[in-house]
Order: sequence, then C-alpha cells, then structure tokens
Amino acid sequence: MSAALAEPGPSRIALALTVNGRAVRVAAEPRSHLGDVLREGLDLTGTHLGCEHGVCGACTVLLDGEPARACLTFAGACAGAAVTTIEGLDTDAIASELRAAFNREHALQCGYCTPGMLVAARDLVLRLPEADERRIRVGLSGNLCRCTGYVGIVRAVMAVIADRRGRGIPPEAGAARALGPVGAQIGDATVAPLDPPAERVAPAAPAAVADLSDAFVPAHGFTQVLDVTHPPEAVFVLLGDIAAVAACLPGAVLTARPSPDTVEGGLQVRIGPIAATFRGRARLSRDEAAQTGSVHGAGSDAGGRSATEGRIVYRVGAGPAPGTARVELDVGYTLTGPLAQFGRPGLVRDLAGRIAAEFAHNLDARLSGVAAPVPAGLNPLRLLLGLARARLAAWFGRA
Ligand code: FES
Ligand code: FES
Repeated sequence: MSAALAEPGPSRIALALTVNGRAVRVAAEPRSHLGDVLREGLDLTGTHLGCEHGVCGACTVLLDGEPARACLTFAGACAGAAVTTIEGLDTDAIASELRAAFNREHALQCGYCTPGMLVAARDLVLRLPEADERRIRVGLSGNLCRCTGYVGIVRAVMAVIADRRGRGIPPEAGAARALGPVGAQIGDATVAPLDPPAERVAPAAPAAVADLSDAFVPAHGFTQVLDVTHPPEAVFVLLGDIAAVAACLPGAVLTARPSPDTVEGGLQVRIGPIAATFRGRARLSRDEAAQTGSVHGAGSDAGGRSATEGRIVYRVGAGPAPGTARVELDVGYTLTGPLAQFGRPGLVRDLAGRIAAEFAHNLDARLSGVAAPVPAGLNPLRLLLGLARARLAAWFGRA
C-alpha cells in the first residue's frame, strides 16, 4: 500500500502526520491504533505487535520524541504529531551504537522485542547521566524479551552510555520526565524499588474526593466469582466489616475511620513502569435479607493525572460444596489518564482475577482465624509476571 496517501472511505478518517521525518497522509478507521496504521497503512513493519495490551513494549515508537506504546495510541490522536519508528533510526548515531552493542553482547535472538527495546534504550542513553544498571533495568521494565533474557541487553545499554559519557557526550539537558514510556511514574532522580515496602507506597498527597452520582454509567464491566470455604452468612458478615475487607484486599489502605455507609482510602495499582495510587471515597450499601451489597467509589492518583470511578455489586450465596460460599461480583469502571493505557478490558480482567484470587485467599484465612500473610501493597512484580506469563503463552501459541 502507498505510504503517501490512502483515500478515506465512509468510515475512515484522513490523518496527516510526520513519520520518520516525512509528511504523510494516511486513511485510518477511528478505532485504529498507531501500530496498525504504521504497519498496514505505511508498511513500516519494524514496529512489532506482541500483546497489544501495553505490557510487552514491542510496539514502542517515539511520539513527539517520547517513547510511547503504538498499540495503545489511537492513530486519530496523532494528527500533526511526529512519529519515529525503528526504520527512522537507521542513521541515528545512538541507535547505531546500540545495534552494534546488542550484536556484541548477544542481546537478541529472535529479534521480536528488539525494535521496541532499541527505541526504549535510546531514550535511556539520551537521558541517564551514567551507566547505572538499576536505572537501566527500571527504564526497560516495560519492554519484555521472551527468549534472550536481559543480561546482554542491559550490558549493551550500559556499554553505550559509558562510552558516550567517556567521550564527553553529556545526557540531554532538561529531561525531567520519568524513565520509561509515556505515563511512566518512576522518577528519574530517585528510582523507586521495583517492589517497594508497603510503608513507602502510600503517598502523602491528600485524598482526592469526587462526588458520586447515581447516574454513573461505567465504560467497562465484567463479572467475577470468588469461592470461599466458609458459610455464606459468615462471609456476608465479614464483607460488612470494611477494615477487614481493606486488610484482605491487595494494595488497599484506609485513610479515615470508615462509617457504615462511606469509606475513604486508597488503592495502589502498578503495572511495569506505570504506577498510580488512587485515593478517594466510596459509598457503601448492604441488603441483609438478600445478602447483597454495593460499593460505589471514585478517586484519582496523587498527581491527578489518572482518575477512576467504579461500582461493585456483590451477592453472597451458597458455594459449590456444603458449608462454602460463592461471592458474585459485578464490576463496572471508567478509567481516564495515563493509566487508561492499561484499562483495556482484557488486561483489567486478568489483573482483577489475580487480585480476586488473593482477596478470596485472605478472606478464607481471616475467617479461619489464621494470621494471613495480608499484603498491604499490591505485589506488582508477581502480578506482572503472572500477566507476562499468560501473554507469552499466547504469543507462543500464535507463533
Ligand atoms: S504490543 Fe504494544 S505493548 Fe505489547
Ligand atoms: S530477542 Fe527478545 S523476544 Fe526474542
């Protein structure tokens, strides 16, 4: 297909943007993401698509100079933007040095992750003052390699940074944004631990309180089922104890004493380099006779960049075995801001499934009177590895 122009049809939009330094016009469906438009509309197949959920980083391109996930970026939102793909870095000095270092250090095998890895690594070479292995690993934590491993990749990036600084080439001045792709929340100057202890997770920022409207219509929804090895009556009583529920929910903290119908608190969400701690308020209701209840909450992260509103309706009934309970959850949510990159329903369902499993395990432990190893913080590494494992299995299935 011509790289220069494709005629818009009835449902297509004409898009003008600069790709690899060249002004192009291309027709795209409003729902098309940038990765598809680059690959199918402009034949720039160096941009690879792996997970298409923002997890693997294979599709990383530069969008107005910043690494961005092409699979999570609506092409229509890029009108007028400058996009640089791996093909556009053919003669780029840093990319050339990185390619040589990747070859030297055996930093690739199949090469599927390599274009995204090079784009992300180039950003680190530009901005890191020194070859700091930990910061390089953090900066590349949004780029997964399924076959080589990261030792050679990190060594290659370290070598290029050390070599350039040794030649007196300074880091780019004024690069204040965080390491990682657009939306990354890991600070450049003080790199947070990958799995921070709970006491370092809760930010000092005041709770963001949003008004909750009964007219809320969620953008996405799914159902979740939890099986708990205790009688339904006991489970329903425990779900009415907000402090206990918060203690069982990975990543949740209470910031004020809960009343019977409202609660204030926070929930930490972190996937790879993207992290946010949502603070807000929820309204609670319960129907003892029907053994149902609902939680309707809204909040935003400390910087106010991502916001969410959601409603969970739960029903407690008899479980599959005598003396056990089944909790059915109807979850509806809307997510906006950088974290919405990861708000795709499939990914949220994966994440919710893992949180729910941990929650059910903690409920069981609490009802059994066992001191459960209650996680005060969402275990991001474990959740991410779980997600990555599922995605990689899907890739291999597709290969
Ligand atoms: S394809 Fe975009 S992050 Fe995986
Ligand atoms: S070289 Fe990274 S996925 Fe194969």
